[in-house]
Amino acid sequence: MKLIFEKSRPGRRAGSLPSYDLPTIEVPEELARRKPPRLPEVSEPDLVRHFTALADRNFGVDTGFYPLGSCTMKHNPRVNERVVNLPGFRDLHPYQEEEASQGALELMWRLQEILAEVCGLHAVSLQPAAGSQGELTGLMLVRAYFADRGESDQRRVVITADTAHGTNPASVAMAGFELQKVGTDERGNLDLDDLRAKVDQRTAGLMLTNPSTLGLFDEHIEEVSAIFHDAGALLYYDGANLNAVCGISRPGDMGFDIVHINLHKTFSQPHGGGGPGGGPIAVREILEPFLPVPAVVRDGEEFRLAYDRPKTIGKVRGFCGPFGVFVRSYAFIRAYGPALREMSEVAVLNANYLLARLRDVYDLPFDRLCMHEFVLSARNLKRDHGITALDVAKGLMDHGFHPPTIYFPLIVPEALMIEPTETEAKETLDNFVDAMRSIAGEAASDPRALKDAPHRRPVRRLDEVKAAKRAIVKYGFGEHPGAEAERIGGERLEAQQGA
Ligand SMILES: Cc1ncc(COP(=O)(O)O)c(C=O)c1O
Repeated sequence: MKLIFEKSRPGRRAGSLPSYDLPTIEVPEELARRKPPRLPEVSEPDLVRHFTALADRNFGVDTGFYPLGSCTMKHNPRVNERVVNLPGFRDLHPYQEEEASQGALELMWRLQEILAEVCGLHAVSLQPAAGSQGELTGLMLVRAYFADRGESDQRRVVITADTAHGTNPASVAMAGFELQKVGTDERGNLDLDDLRAKVDQRTAGLMLTNPSTLGLFDEHIEEVSAIFHDAGALLYYDGANLNAVCGISRPGDMGFDIVHINLHKTFSQPHGGGGPGGGPIAVREILEPFLPVPAVVRDGEEFRLAYDRPKTIGKVRGFCGPFGVFVRSYAFIRAYGPALREMSEVAVLNANYLLARLRDVYDLPFDRLCMHEFVLSARNLKRDHGITALDVAKGLMDHGFHPPTIYFPLIVPEALMIEPTETEAKETLDNFVDAMRSIAGEAASDPRALKDAPHRRPVRRLDEVKAAKRAIVKYGFGEHPGAEAERIGGERLEAQQGA
């Protein structure tokens, strides 16, 4: 495909700007451009076709099945977009005075109440903008809590599972704690003996997702929570997997003291490409004084922003957090109403259906009923035919599916982590099963072809490290020869012209 600059012809225009009828401002000589910016010059049809063609080459949850484990890539109902585009929400300025923002404040307050109920906890702050920021905020609360009790020098260690998402240990380090890892037992639960040996008076807390990234509900969660609470430590629930348990079991009832919720997963609006997201945190009563300000509170029939929290950790995000994400989540939850539980039940059913239909062709490292996702291993294909999880993922692209998460969790070799979500129809699941089974067959009959997959996508097998770290995103004009080719470690990288 040609770049837009290669389609450019002098004098072609895709639109015209309205004539400027405000007083012109003199730009100081030293700040004025010497030359006009070099922009592509194309007609409107060519412009529309160019970007439509680019969009067609992309893959998203609106183009096909996207079973990316741990990421909960579910359908984003279009009513969400209608609601978030109501002028009263869309055009509201964050500095609008409270009397004129009552609707927005009420929505945030109601969302806080719902999330507190879903988590079985006392208070919520909507501020963090993603799960990872919720994690950091939660751990800052842990620090503030122990500092307030005069225990900050003693409580230095936070424990994570060896199946934990990478953001957990990263947040532990960023919050200034020491990290300790706990192993997994043969049924996929936290290894209780390992845990008991590691929890002591230096322990500040545990970070755990339940169900875990193996898609398994920890069978000893009450015992786990007793071990930490008996040692005076706190429990943090990574709520990225909340889609499995909404309305069925609550982290607060399991013993967790702090929870982050990935609004952009559980409550639709999947955030492929990095945003926008929302990672509110819910906490037990003892931690409420430390929550970020401003808090959204209700005073009789009025709603307001409260700053009067002397022990607060402060602000963690601009204004009140990602408001558009709140509106979509609220719309999504209200559309379900009291039947929110069905969302999780169907998500778990869909995952178990896929697991039941795939378990005879791929290895199953932990043979149990799964929750909303499950982890298979391609190690049997690797052993017998040299076909890896990466080859399976690339092969799936030729069948029109987004690959599942691969090589995570780290404790499963050749891991394929599959999360179908509740929004997929049985036919889609069956087509995915057919593709996965056919790939297992190809691994035996024609492994070479699978090694070269994908064959039918706009790009073939890329060097993923270079594609991510060395993307060439500018056009190599004559005066920018560096954009045409770059030397990295003595190797010449060609600019992707018409890639
Ligand atoms: C288990 C788990 N924890 C935490 C996160 C971090 O969430 P976010 O991507 O919103 O920062 C993720 C994201 O995929 C996750 O899967």
